[in-house]
Amino acid sequence: MVFKILSVVGARPNFMKVAAICEVIKVINRVGAEQRIDHVLVHTGQHYDTNMSDSFFNDLEIPKPDLCLDVGSASHSVQTARIMERFETVVLNEQPHVVLVVGDVNSTVACALVVKKTWCGRNETATGFIPKLAHVEAGLRSFDRTMPEEINRIVTDSISDYLFTTEESANQNLLREGIPENRIFFVGNVMIDTLLRHRSKAQESTILQDLQLADAREVKPYAVLTLHRPSNVDDKRVFAQMLNAFVNISKRMPLIFPAHPRTLKRIQDEDLGNSFMDRIRLVPPLGYLDFVRLLSEARLVLTDSGGIQEEATIFGIPCITLRDNTERPVTLECGTNVLVGSDPEKIIREFDRLSGSRQQSNRSPLYWDGNAAKRIVKVLVDEFLRDH
Ligand code: UD1
Repeated sequence: MVFKILSVVGARPNFMKVAAICEVIKVINRVGAEQRIDHVLVHTGQHYDTNMSDSFFNDLEIPKPDLCLDVGSASHSVQTARIMERFETVVLNEQPHVVLVVGDVNSTVACALVVKKTWCGRNETATGFIPKLAHVEAGLRSFDRTMPEEINRIVTDSISDYLFTTEESANQNLLREGIPENRIFFVGNVMIDTLLRHRSKAQESTILQDLQLADAREVKPYAVLTLHRPSNVDDKRVFAQMLNAFVNISKRMPLIFPAHPRTLKRIQDEDLGNSFMDRIRLVPPLGYLDFVRLLSEARLVLTDSGGIQEEATIFGIPCITLRDNTERPVTLECGTNVLVGSDPEKIIREFDRLSGSRQQSNRSPLYWDGNAAKRIVKVLVDEFLRDH
């Protein structure tokens, strides 16, 4: 019997995670392994701009999605509902054995809910089944339920059959929430699989030259900023104060700011651009290889992204996290991450402390070794063979 896995992507941070899974399945099918896998890729369309979506498919050589749901932007409830409505038809038509969702975005929770509520009848006589749900990057908790992602994580984990974790804190969180131990698989980090795989290709990016950060002889010191969380950019007072801190920093070191569309929109809507336009280097969202190249040579990164905390850990780049909490505590223990929040004075103080020297993290978290996707697919195949 052919084993059918359906994977879901929706938003930017999903693409690099599913890329690693696609690659492993491609290799398994190419070498003619005993268990062939039929892999269906569905894009919900939560992110749809070329530089938020298409460019990642090109850079990471992800196969073109088999199905696109084109849901686009909307309020959380409307977006989630639209995905659910359209994804139900997909599950009914495709009847996969397993649906794999990654991360914590609205597409993750919406598709997870659909999977566990859809009864797939093979035909009128045979018995039907509910597909199994696999969650990659399970168990992470910020313990801040005002974050939409925290709700998405808790709900998805509570109904998943296979929970694939990236760090020990996630295992503990899941056990504390009553998830049976035999559903938890500590496999490592698929986003780091993709980073390690594309690291040398990213060296060919010309982004440093394009932004005049490097010439033939040397790379100049610079810092990178990313910011898009509602808690930072939706409150005008908080956002304006943070921008002041960034202007201050940019007087000491060039600050490159690839701005997420929602952040750009806030800058335009609130007319905040004038105060920093001539100092901070605002650039459009970058493709994967360009961003990896930019990050790899940076003196320091300031961010409220979850994934960048992890990537900075691998690069050993000091990471000033513009949040009060992190769902990825291993980056504090093992890496170069510090939590600073949105207080402008603290941001500047930490920048001054960390910008002088390039800290090297010599410890890589357990299983962040480029083989996480292999472990995941092996578990899924073994479980499938056991059940069929
Ligand atoms: C989503 C995820 C967040 C993740 C982030 C990475 C949720 C709840 N949040 O947040 O966890 O860190 O993606 O990027 O799923 N927009 C565009 N073009 C696009 C996509 C979005 O212009 O291709 C604009 C729209 O104005 C939209 C806004 O960005 O309303 C926000 O997009 P949305 O997908 O709702 O959430 P993100 O902030 O991107």
